[in-house]
Amino acid sequence: MDTLTQEKLEEKFQAKIDADIKIEPNDWMPDTYRKTLIRQISQHAHSEIVGMLPEGNWITRAPSLRRKAVLLAKVQDEAGHGLYLYSATETLGVSREDTIDDLHSGKVKYSSIFNYPTLTWADIGAIGWLVDGAAIMNQVALCRTSYGPYARAMVKICKEESFHQRQGYEIMTTLMNGTEAQREMAQDAMNRFWWPALMMFGPSDGESKHTEQSMRWRIKRHTNDELRQSFVDASVPQAELIGLKIPDPNLKWNEARGHYDFGAIDWEEFWQVVGGNGPCNKERIDARVKAKEEGEWVREAAMAYAKKHKS
Ligand code: 3HC
Repeated sequence: MDTLTQEKLEEKFQAKIDADIKIEPNDWMPDTYRKTLIRQISQHAHSEIVGMLPEGNWITRAPSLRRKAVLLAKVQDEAGHGLYLYSATETLGVSREDTIDDLHSGKVKYSSIFNYPTLTWADIGAIGWLVDGAAIMNQVALCRTSYGPYARAMVKICKEESFHQRQGYEIMTTLMNGTEAQREMAQDAMNRFWWPALMMFGPSDGESKHTEQSMRWRIKRHTNDELRQSFVDASVPQAELIGLKIPDPNLKWNEARGHYDFGAIDWEEFWQVVGGNGPCNKERIDARVKAKEEGEWVREAAMAYAKKHKS
């Protein structure tokens, strides 16, 4: 293709983005836009599926039938979110098989937060409230992302995330209204999940290698730091309402900014976990590889049935 056509096409593409016209699978798009979407949406899908593991760990140990039913529903929702997002990835011309193999080989990432262990029942409350709360902050913005299938997947996912966040906050509220031991358990979960939840939004804007271009392409509608700040501003009053302490001595309301100031994030820890050295990285990938191997017969049976009954 001669450079003039390429330039013209890129100009027309950017004009559509700037006019907030959704880009659809069959539309022309720069290879770099397609690659960024494949990277982000597939990693988002991996995060949903790997995210089922820490919570799934407590389904058999939920303290009541109601808590078990709610947790089961949430974990099933996450599987659905993963399938939605793998389907959105496939619209960009990559196979689900290859996408999942990239996760298992360690070639691609999933959200760092899921490499932390769930040690007590209160962790399930902290994950629902903080992790899904952070995910909502990020995903509400993604409802306006420039790629059509991704934006549309987000609408359904966000509806379910609010239920996830609500049930997590209810668990934390119940514990904080409980015995001294239950309050301590909830505060311990808060102490272990607060900072990793802030890390979910990615490196600070100055360190983020994709944010500038992703904002230009309106894949991102807010920067990592903007979303992180909104999450802190929303979460502090919720914590205070039920008596939970935020584990950050530098947290302070800044009237002039109209936001909470908060302490420095341990980016060394973040990159260690992203780099595969978190507490549960190996366990998570081993579990996913095992699930794929043990599920081989199901896929074979489904393919054989589909072949036999092809209309
Ligand atoms: N965990 C792991 N890797 C992370 C990360 C995190 N929390 N934050 C950033 N990174 C990686 C990026 O993937 C990128 O690496 P790559 O080039 O190999 O992909 C690198 O760090 C630089 O970060 P950038 O900020 O430049 O990258 P992005 O522009 O992609 O921003 C993001 C990162 C904000 C996570 C963005 O990708 C995004 O918004 N993704 C969609 C939302 C998502 O994936 N959320 C994950 C949680 S899903 C969830 O919680 C499910 C809920 O139901 C529980």
